Amino acid sequence: MAFLNFLVSLSFMFAVSGRVVVHESRAAAPAPFVRLGRAPADQELTLRIALASNNIAGLEERLLSISTPGSSEFRQWLSMDEVKTFVQPSKSTVAAFESFAATNGLNFSVVSPHEDWVSITLPVSRANELFAADFELFSHPSMASLITRTLSVSLPVELAGHIDVVHPTTEFTEPNARHAATTAPLKKRAPAASCNTFVASGVMTPACLQQLYGIPTTAATSQNNTLLVTGYLSEFAQTADLAAFLKLLRPDMPSNTTFTMLSIDHGENTQNPTVAGVEANLDVQYTTGIATGVPVQFLSVGSSFATALLDTITFLDGVPNPPTVVTTSYGTLEAGFLNTMSTKLCNGYMALGARGISLVFSTGDGGVRGVQDDTCTSPEFFAVFPASCPWVTSVGSTQGFGPETAANFSGGGFSGVFPTPAYQSSAVAGFLKTVPANFPGEFNRAGRGYPDVSVQGVHFQFVTGGVTGLVGGTSLSTPTFASMIALINDRLIAAGKPVLGFLNPFIYLQRNSSFTDITIGHNSGNSCPLSSVAFDAVIGWDALTGLGTPIFPELLAAALAGS
Ligand SMILES: *[C@@H]1O[C@H](CO)[C@@H](O)[C@H](O)[C@H]1NC(C)=O
Ligand SMILES: *[C@@H]1O[C@H](CO)[C@@H](O)[C@H](O)[C@H]1NC(C)=O
Ligand SMILES: *[C@@H]1O[C@H](CO)[C@@H](O)[C@H](O)[C@H]1NC(C)=O
Ligand SMILES: *[C@@H]1O[C@H](CO)[C@@H](O)[C@H](O)[C@H]1NC(C)=O
Ligand SMILES: *[C@@H]1O[C@H](CO)[C@@H](O)[C@H](O)[C@H]1NC(C)=O
Repeated sequence: MAFLNFLVSLSFMFAVSGRVVVHESRAAAPAPFVRLGRAPADQELTLRIALASNNIAGLEERLLSISTPGSSEFRQWLSMDEVKTFVQPSKSTVAAFESFAATNGLNFSVVSPHEDWVSITLPVSRANELFAADFELFSHPSMASLITRTLSVSLPVELAGHIDVVHPTTEFTEPNARHAATTAPLKKRAPAASCNTFVASGVMTPACLQQLYGIPTTAATSQNNTLLVTGYLSEFAQTADLAAFLKLLRPDMPSNTTFTMLSIDHGENTQNPTVAGVEANLDVQYTTGIATGVPVQFLSVGSSFATALLDTITFLDGVPNPPTVVTTSYGTLEAGFLNTMSTKLCNGYMALGARGISLVFSTGDGGVRGVQDDTCTSPEFFAVFPASCPWVTSVGSTQGFGPETAANFSGGGFSGVFPTPAYQSSAVAGFLKTVPANFPGEFNRAGRGYPDVSVQGVHFQFVTGGVTGLVGGTSLSTPTFASMIALINDRLIAAGKPVLGFLNPFIYLQRNSSFTDITIGHNSGNSCPLSSVAFDAVIGWDALTGLGTPIFPELLAAALAGS
């Protein structure tokens, strides 16, 4: 035994003294994370390692073909096994990783259906040696516990190209990723005097949204068309609040209409008015209450945000008959991830889009600064992820009507990681022409622009903890848009046609007919003066409202005609 150990440590020393290449590094943790010194050498770490997929370029080409109107394989979504042929690692990648694990005496387990993620558990000292890392402890003023991260992670040369991500290492994501604006305080309200939220007494309700966008109230008929609401960060959706909401605002629906609860990573859904989650409640209320009759699922994910995004993807990868729409009202600064993790997650959304799932994400409530920023003076704009991923459909907010304008908090801008995808290149080019040459805002003109679309997002009536109140944010716009897509899918299924799946190539071609262009607004954020630098809404696509707000009957007609 002693001899064996000796051998292991010898080869291990060889691996360490062998050549390594820096995989990812950052100079410092972003504020307000605080570095507290080295992590204890014997602290156990569980690291997830993404093995390189064998053919992501092939998957991208296939997805663009099946999602672009006019293609001979339009909307011929792929099965779980077809997607796996692209996403799984190649034999040589598996062999390289197995050899590394054997050489270093590591046990690993495969933790994703496409076999592209493996997990290892090891002490900090070992992780430091294997990945030329320096794991340290960090705190954040709004996090209860410390996190263990490293500012740099390297790979042995023989693994370079075979590993995409070591998670969590260099990633520092903000703990509060919810996109419900806290600026509209909860209060008891009289019934809506008006749907127009420019008016002080104006309140947005399901009936207002149905009227404004032409959303039908007739119930869906397919039971095979599930709309999934993601629940992160211990947000619990209350069935009593949903029942009260439906009774108040959808009296025409059975008030026992409810959602199905799913859980991963020990996610809970505690039923108690004192732990009612504003975000989870509004998400289930504005799906169940708009997508009339569509089966709604609430997926409670117990892990921290980045891991929760990852585990949602790998969970859905393994569901043979997945939901047709997934709505997520959470996001965080793209820069928190560095590039490898955001790219791997975004490729995960690509794979789910290819299965025929429409992924809908909110763009955040901090305007061009991504999160609410009190200084208001920085010229630097910050992108929000996952909204900035080109393989999702991201949703900003509008307010009022006559005319409908961009909400000042509507998150929008350009990715620092992902380039402008072809489906939006002419729309984005048109917008960039309107940005003056001396524009002081700093952003990536070659990046993926977002949002793609927008929907009302101010003064939505809802129920939480038994109290009727108002809430605003892109968190409201997102489940509302997702519900419209779910209703269109229901009508497509009834007509014997495939569901909408990855939406963007289709909706960008519909921009002149199925959307109301929003041309007024400035997204400097709710707390920054209008004079602070931000984007302006213009004719055509813009980085506050995307293509504009959907006209349901037109979008439905185009969907039915297109396949
Ligand atoms: C690896 O797994 C085997 C079987 O579960 C176990 O006996 C062994 O102790 C593990 N080794 C390490 C280094 O964890
Ligand atoms: C809701 O109530 C109706 C009639 O009261 C009943 O037929 C139906 O089964 C109930 N549905 C659920 C999900 O409990
Ligand atoms: C439901 O969807 C699954 C997978 O998309 C499909 O195999 C099945 O035939 C569908 N069932 C109905 C009744 O449409
Ligand atoms: C939409 O209209 C604009 C302006 O008329 C035109 O330049 C553009 O090509 C049209 N786009 C589509 C997809 O029809
Ligand atoms: C943003 O819009 C809201 C709603 O109209 C308004 O109450 C708020 O004052 C605006 N914020 C700024 C900084 O102008």
